[in-house]
Amino acid sequence: MCGIVGYIGKGSASDIIIDGLSKLEYRGYDSAGVAIHNGLNIEVEKHKGRLDVLASELEKNPIEGSLGIGHTRWATHGEPSDANSHPHLNNDKSLAVVHNGIIENYVELKEELIGEGSEFLSQTDTEVLPHLISKYNKGNLLDAVMEAVTHVRGSYAIGVISKNSPGELVAARKDSPLIVGVGKEEFFIASDIPAVLKYTRDVIFIENDEIIHIKDNKIKIYDKDKKEVEKEIFKVTWDIEAASKGGYDFYMDKEIHEQPTVIKDTIERRLNPEGDIVLDNINITKEQLKDIKKIFIVACGTAYHAGVLGKHAIEKLMRVPVIVDIASEFRYGENFVDENSLVILVSQSGETADTLAALRNAKEKGARVLSVTNVVGSSIARESDDVFYTWAGPEISVASTKAYTTQIVSLYMIALDFAIKAGTIDKETYKNIIDNMLKLPECVQSVLDKSESIKDIAKSMINKNNAFYLGRGADFSLSQEGALKLKEISYIHAEAFAAGELKHGTIALIEEGTPVVAVSTQDTLLEKMVSNVQEVKARGAFVISIAKEGNNLIEGVSDRVIYIPKISDFLAPVVAVVPMQILAYHVSALKGLDVDKPRNLAKSVTVE
Ligand code: G6P
Repeated sequence: MCGIVGYIGKGSASDIIIDGLSKLEYRGYDSAGVAIHNGLNIEVEKHKGRLDVLASELEKNPIEGSLGIGHTRWATHGEPSDANSHPHLNNDKSLAVVHNGIIENYVELKEELIGEGSEFLSQTDTEVLPHLISKYNKGNLLDAVMEAVTHVRGSYAIGVISKNSPGELVAARKDSPLIVGVGKEEFFIASDIPAVLKYTRDVIFIENDEIIHIKDNKIKIYDKDKKEVEKEIFKVTWDIEAASKGGYDFYMDKEIHEQPTVIKDTIERRLNPEGDIVLDNINITKEQLKDIKKIFIVACGTAYHAGVLGKHAIEKLMRVPVIVDIASEFRYGENFVDENSLVILVSQSGETADTLAALRNAKEKGARVLSVTNVVGSSIARESDDVFYTWAGPEISVASTKAYTTQIVSLYMIALDFAIKAGTIDKETYKNIIDNMLKLPECVQSVLDKSESIKDIAKSMINKNNAFYLGRGADFSLSQEGALKLKEISYIHAEAFAAGELKHGTIALIEEGTPVVAVSTQDTLLEKMVSNVQEVKARGAFVISIAKEGNNLIEGVSDRVIYIPKISDFLAPVVAVVPMQILAYHVSALKGLDVDKPRNLAKSVTVE
């Protein structure tokens, strides 16, 4: 989704903004642009395509100036084109605006503004903003923005500059992420922290309906009633290195390889010296647990797949049924949430629009809301009653890997903590699972060591158009994640099926050489899976099995087997997903695709 960056200070706005935007590339985009105040006028450079196109144009025709705004656009209203790229201007080019989000009432606003003489040059919803701000601009930019946003429905993070105010930057937020970086005599606005980290670690999180005013080297933040609000400055502790490639060709490969460390961090930081789980930001007492009659897990994409495994864990350890739902379905459906419900939201970014809407829906119905997220201070974290932070560090690649495994581990820890408090497991089981969880990093590492042999398997898949993933129980959920990984970055159509459902339709699609990834890590279901593998094998499938060491049964019926270390059925998913991540990565890289930025996808989906 779109990324915005703004700068005001003494440095070169153009260089700083391009650099900042490059740190937001992970969000997905198809065009980029900047507007810089050159001391006299606002100069704009914007182009369809990658940031490099814009950067090389700026090298040829540099724009000098220390105030500017920039944008990477992920097309929603209107095709990717130079004209639709941001920034957008008003008629006399005295105002420039960048925007992330969707203006829902833009059609009516546009008609009204056209009626009043505004000329529109793009098909975007955003273009109403410079015209609207211009309409209300009576010489005070802040007042004009404050007034304009009251006429807008939808979501926005905006940055605004004016030709008449070379020392002023105004920004506002509603339902799209926005932070401010506070430097020495300079300020930054951005959609996400990595954009400013090279310059400052001091960050302010902007809340909904807040308006930022930076002028004369001072920042003031107002609420929607125009009352100034006191904001805390948050110190970012992680390093920019954590958000760079560190020698890997792609972030995805780097992030896959970080899993042993981040899983270890996520677990160990929650254990006290006695080895018991302590959940810092979760304040649900034993008594409150007793009042919880229904548990929901709600999320999107990969986070949803982690949620399904969370369901398995909570049901197994707490002996209560859990409903898992996709956030975009949950928010509009009759979800039966009430004040005796616990709703667990899972979100890497903490900004996904549907997940955030689901959170608000649950809160309105009086539920207690617990979020599992990777981004400290994100909207979902801030609006939740309780938070469990995954310690995955910044995840840049659009295809989620380390966030997913840490989400599973986090949900398992929550399940364990709640189960011991609720008395549904005994201390021995609790201790035993924790001991085994501590072995996860080592198990994941042993799979990472097989990356080259998995690359060989990947070679056999690069010319295929379809692939199927099969599993039972937790392995079925894992298969869904495996299939998602493959399709999103390699563009091979991949679907996952509950192995027992094969004979009800899918088996008709198996032909000579169709790749089938069979996940068989659940000891209790192994024999059933062997039969299913035989069924597809007999119809010509090329079977790649993922199984625990020692499960030789599967070897006799598979073309290739990727073994994971022997570990309990309960914890096996955390390890068994890794070969599927590596497989998808190699297929995409071998096909010469842009692994980290797959077409049409965005890392942070901040619009509905
Ligand atoms: C996008 C990303 C996925 C992610 C999903 C949910 O589709 O590409 O990797 O799983 O959004 O995002 P969240 O930040 O809420 O986990």
